[in-house]
Amino acid sequence: MAGVDADPLPAVHFRSDQSIGDALAQLTRVLRDAGIDTPQRDARFLLRGLLGLDGAKLLSCSARALGDDAERISDAARRRAAHEPVSRILGHREFYGRDFIVTPDVLDPRPDTEAVVEAALGLIKSRGLSQRPLSIVDVGTGSGILIVTLLAELPNARGVGTDVSQAALEVARRNAASLGVKDRVHFVATSGLDGCAGPFDLVISNPPYISTGEIDELERDVKDFDPLLALDGGADGLCVYRKIAQNIVELQRPLMVVLEVGSTQAEAVIEIFSSAGGQLIGRHKDLGGHTRAVALEIHL
Ligand SMILES: C[S@@+](CC[C@H](N)C(=O)[O-])C[C@H]1O[C@@H](n2cnc3c(N)ncnc32)[C@H](O)[C@@H]1O
Repeated sequence: MAGVDADPLPAVHFRSDQSIGDALAQLTRVLRDAGIDTPQRDARFLLRGLLGLDGAKLLSCSARALGDDAERISDAARRRAAHEPVSRILGHREFYGRDFIVTPDVLDPRPDTEAVVEAALGLIKSRGLSQRPLSIVDVGTGSGILIVTLLAELPNARGVGTDVSQAALEVARRNAASLGVKDRVHFVATSGLDGCAGPFDLVISNPPYISTGEIDELERDVKDFDPLLALDGGADGLCVYRKIAQNIVELQRPLMVVLEVGSTQAEAVIEIFSSAGGQLIGRHKDLGGHTRAVALEIHL
């Protein structure tokens, strides 16, 4: 309406004398009305996170009053109804069984990215390398989920995480410290692998891979909250893959490479890395049958 500033956050209020069970029902309704796809699941996650309760306790404490937590729950409800992701509201998210700090400076980690961890660990185990002092580099590390998870799973490995965002690297450092791998990793502000001489046994990456023209069409939860740097892969979405392939030509070989790819990009990415001497050695498909991670070996 002309002359009236719209409040971007809907008015939602929870009372201190309201029970947890009633709040769960109300929050589910608020999120459903706001067009959130998974209102009940998100309401549960938010209440569990804000009240510090596991799933069973949330049920067994459903008659308890919200008390002082009512204000924080009202605030979280308004933010989720405005499509802010649950992990951003809570400030953390689980990935591959570990809890990672998430801030506005990093991509909200996606469950799909666990395919990169599984593909990399599968490759390492199948070659009998799990106990070796492997050297791993994660390009576009963001919150550090990939390199921190692999180092936590591979106690003798060391690693490097690169990112063009200094702010993201700060989050990755905090995650490396809280998950006990900070002495085996260092983080470098650079594009691709510029200035990283290695030698590396494995390169992993979940680079930005949305084409610039598609960013506007993304869901609000993504385009309004994930950093543009973490999404925008250039005109065809493949710019950072090309950058990594160019860098790899300079590195010592043989070298394993495991990359997350967009659901329609596998063939184009394989082609880019084939031109850099890569040979496809594995694909990881999602439930819809789309390849979401590719593994390649770069030979001598
Ligand atoms: C899709 S996010 C992935 C973050 C994290 N690896 C994950 O899987 O959640 C891509 C990351 O790459 C970084 N990035 C973008 N362009 C880059 C480049 N040329 N070199 C290195 N990092 C880049 C972004 O800042 C962002 O943190």
